[in-house]
Amino acid sequence: MPKNNKNRIISAKESADEMAFEKSLRPKQLADYIGQDKVKDNLEIFMVAAKKRKEPIEHVLLHGCPGLGKTTLAHIIAHEMGSNIRITSGPAIEKAGDLAAILTNLADGDILFIDEIHRLNKIIEEVLYPAMEDFALDIVIGKGPSARTLRLDLPKFTLIGATTRVSLISSPLRDRFGINFRLDFYKDEDIEKIIERNAKILNVDIEPKATSQISRRARKTPRIANRLLKRVRDFAQVKGNGKINLDLANDALTMLDIDQLGLDEIDRKIIRVIIEKFSGGPVGLNTLSAAIGEEMDTIEDIYEPFLMQLGFISRTPRGRIITKNGYEHLGIKPIIDPQNSLI
Ligand code: ADE
Repeated sequence: MPKNNKNRIISAKESADEMAFEKSLRPKQLADYIGQDKVKDNLEIFMVAAKKRKEPIEHVLLHGCPGLGKTTLAHIIAHEMGSNIRITSGPAIEKAGDLAAILTNLADGDILFIDEIHRLNKIIEEVLYPAMEDFALDIVIGKGPSARTLRLDLPKFTLIGATTRVSLISSPLRDRFGINFRLDFYKDEDIEKIIERNAKILNVDIEPKATSQISRRARKTPRIANRLLKRVRDFAQVKGNGKINLDLANDALTMLDIDQLGLDEIDRKIIRVIIEKFSGGPVGLNTLSAAIGEEMDTIEDIYEPFLMQLGFISRTPRGRIITKNGYEHLGIKPIIDPQNSLI
């Protein structure tokens, strides 16, 4: 069985403590949000235009890997528009009635944030269509031939949907979002700025070389940078005098088993298992998941995107393969199969 990954550095799951920690660091205004420049520039225009028209902003779909700041952006939109935000998630809405209750309790201009919107059940999703398009809720009264539909007006709200899996969103739902943003991995210099900003908020003394070392190992992801900063801060308090210098940051990161590129033991296990058990691939996700004891979703959502971004894994129609760079990172010499030469 897959292990509980709540305490891992590289996990999509957040504990209550971590949510509170992230909340305390979350920028409230767009001007304080670092990176994702294209998204910010467009969002600024959409928000200013909506405010001028005195209308709510159009429905927004945010997609990208876990930890890139989708929830943070939703809060910023609410703050900048002066709106209340109601937060829920796809799996939390179990019945069409749950969604109807949420929708009828919104007020004009409110924002409804649905995280993991790809996990919304199909029947419930259909309630969203008229709600998003016409701000209406269709209620079916009675059964069989005498059934009638009653249409209730809803307030003019904005739906912000977030997903790590945009491909799992049906096209009728996707088409109803006027704004669609993809969040990318961050540049290292932006992650450095985020660490600097957050160290200031946390009142942590950190030297610039330590900031760049942590940023290089943070998988281009703000949430991971924050986790590393928190762990290194603890380490500095216990093993040092509270100040974070380069040596201390390196020692802490080594203890956490995070390597120079930010890979952890699971990333390395994925690469090693494909090389050692499947001759470098191709191997299907199902088989890989069984071989390493991690859920398929965890591999696909968390590990694979970064390993692909580094160019260590490649996805082919026949399955995942390890590239030459992947072999090199583990210091394993590839055996070149003439039928299946390495890229
Ligand atoms: N915390 C998480 N994401 C952030 C971002 N993009 N800018 C500043 N702080 C953040």
